[in-house]
Amino acid sequence: MVFINNGKMSADFKINPMTSEHIDEIINLQRESDISYWSPKDYERLINDAQTINLVATHKQPKSQKTFGFVTSRLIITISYRRDSLLDKIKQTNGSKNQNESEIEIFNICIRKNFKRQGIGTILLKKLYEKCRSEAVGTIWLEVRETNTNAINFYTSHGFKKVYKRKNYYQNPSEDALVMRLNLTGIRTD
Ligand SMILES: CC(C)(COP(=O)(O)OP(=O)(O)OC[C@H]1O[C@@H](n2cnc3c(N)ncnc32)[C@H](O)[C@@H]1OP(=O)(O)O)[C@@H](O)C(=O)NCCC(=O)NCCS
Repeated sequence: MVFINNGKMSADFKINPMTSEHIDEIINLQRESDISYWSPKDYERLINDAQTINLVATHKQPKSQKTFGFVTSRLIITISYRRDSLLDKIKQTNGSKNQNESEIEIFNICIRKNFKRQGIGTILLKKLYEKCRSEAVGTIWLEVRETNTNAINFYTSHGFKKVYKRKNYYQNPSEDALVMRLNLTGIRTD
């Protein structure tokens, strides 16, 4: 049984980094959803890649691997500003401590069928924002099928903006991708 109060996860849930133990459940979850197929090996590679942030929402019981949702993402770019550059001076004036600003791409976010619209996707996203902040990530990018209005509404409700289209980006069926972006500055994680 799941309890969510005011968009906050109840004691029955926890968010943790994805490990190999979650892969079977994730493959099941993926199967029941209409998202691109990733094999168990793909997930193993992802988990072992230090440049990724992958989170799962699971049942709180210590032994339970019951997975309610997951998000996968990877660092795509790190911009280093020259210490004496004009931009660096502006950043210092604005109180920014970081000389680097990284960007990540969300590969997928998926919630189990009967648990959608209960705030779990939002909780996963907010946990991802927290991790991004600690890694000096300032921007999140993603691609989404143009007809996936549920996901587009979800991302838009979290402040993502449509940036451009990638023609025929997806196969089976062929479809354009919307590229969306979120600037994390000023985004709250609580
Ligand atoms: C998109 C998805 C991750 C959203 O997760 P979720 O846990 O159901 O989302 P939340 O409950 O946190 O929703 C937060 C807000 O997003 C918007 N939203 C989410 N799902 C929506 C839908 N089906 N229709 C319209 N708006 C939606 C709403 O504004 C919602 O707030 P509200 O419920 O108070 O109105 C989930 O529907 C899913 O797993 N979809 C299938 C996989 C997928 O397409 N992933 C994206 C691949 S790019």
